[in-house]
Amino acid sequence: MFEKGISQNLILVVILPLALLCAIFLYAVPNSNFQLNLLSSCQQPALSSHPNSEPEFKILIGILTLPEKYERRQIIRNAYALQQPATQNGQIDVRFVFCNLTTDEQKIFIAMEIMTYRDVIILNCTENMNKGKTYTYFASLPHVFPGKQRRYDYVIKSDDDTYFRFNNLVASLRDKPREDVYWGKGFEPMTTDPKNPPYMVGMGYGISWDLVEWISTSEFARNNSEGVEDIFLGLWLNIGEKGKNRYDMRERMYDFHGEEPKDFPPETIAVHMLKLDFTWAVTLRMFNVTNRLESSGLYHI
Ligand SMILES: *[C@@H]1O[C@H](CO)[C@@H](O)[C@H](O)[C@H]1NC(C)=O
Ligand SMILES: *[C@@H]1O[C@H](CO)[C@@H](O)[C@H](O)[C@H]1NC(C)=O
Ligand SMILES: *[C@@H]1O[C@H](CO)[C@@H](O)[C@H](O)[C@H]1NC(C)=O
Ligand SMILES: *[C@@H]1O[C@H](CO)[C@@H](O)[C@H](O)[C@H]1NC(C)=O
Repeated sequence: MFEKGISQNLILVVILPLALLCAIFLYAVPNSNFQLNLLSSCQQPALSSHPNSEPEFKILIGILTLPEKYERRQIIRNAYALQQPATQNGQIDVRFVFCNLTTDEQKIFIAMEIMTYRDVIILNCTENMNKGKTYTYFASLPHVFPGKQRRYDYVIKSDDDTYFRFNNLVASLRDKPREDVYWGKGFEPMTTDPKNPPYMVGMGYGISWDLVEWISTSEFARNNSEGVEDIFLGLWLNIGEKGKNRYDMRERMYDFHGEEPKDFPPETIAVHMLKLDFTWAVTLRMFNVTNRLESSGLYHI
């Protein structure tokens, strides 16, 4: 009886909370690295006999933002956590990208974020918008993710006022080549050829990994790293005759322009200009992000 009591207590005190913790992490922390790490410690032997299904392709979304924007970051984190796993086919890793931290507060708070979420990349630069942060981002990635095997098939640069719909994003890239790709929303007024815009606008554009490597070695890109970031990325590729496979997502990526359901069509890949909490809230509501909230006696919303 005594022994039984102990083992029951042991289950209650140690094993149950551990299992719960594992379950919570697996559910709530979709970051793939984290998930994999935890899987290895949480997974039951029976489960681990299943073969790991490798995604068909991998996308990195780097959100260039500022260390002090803690609240915005948390909204974005939650919004993307609730979209994972995007599909069976494509893996999406979202990372927040900073230049050097500058204050003691940042060094503690960001360190905690990294330890909790592992979704931060800190580049060797001083915070700036059009003085080369985008160049440093792309040029650093081959060093951030060293190794012969390419870590991602596509790398997207985005900002903290853009919301991506993962399923549509994955679907838009799945059937595309994995090399020499320049993808995004073309800047329209500057071109008459919709198939060949001079550049993709800054809300979120993607290039294939070979072009990331090319940028990191291109002397022309290094010499011309400071300027309006989206125009300059287009310039590097145009001058270097790179990114011949261009995919303009057009009206599937748009600026926030209204609060009606018709303003958020199902084929949407990204909504931009989400500068205010209000516009984030409208967008997330329109995409039914919180519909799955379970009812409970613990809260009412
Ligand atoms: C970081 O950037 C500074 C200034 O551009 C440079 O002097 C330094 O060598 C860089 N450090 C590393 C580790 O790349
Ligand atoms: C960024 O911080 C690193 C490490 O503290 C330092 O070596 C580097 O020079 C800094 N870079 C810039 C551009 O300030
Ligand atoms: C880059 O700048 C250096 C120094 O100004 C110059 O010598 C070189 O020719 C430039 N390279 C390209 C490709 O523009
Ligand atoms: C959100 O849910 C409503 C009601 O269930 C539905 O009519 C609408 O199509 C959904 N919107 C999206 C973008 O899935």
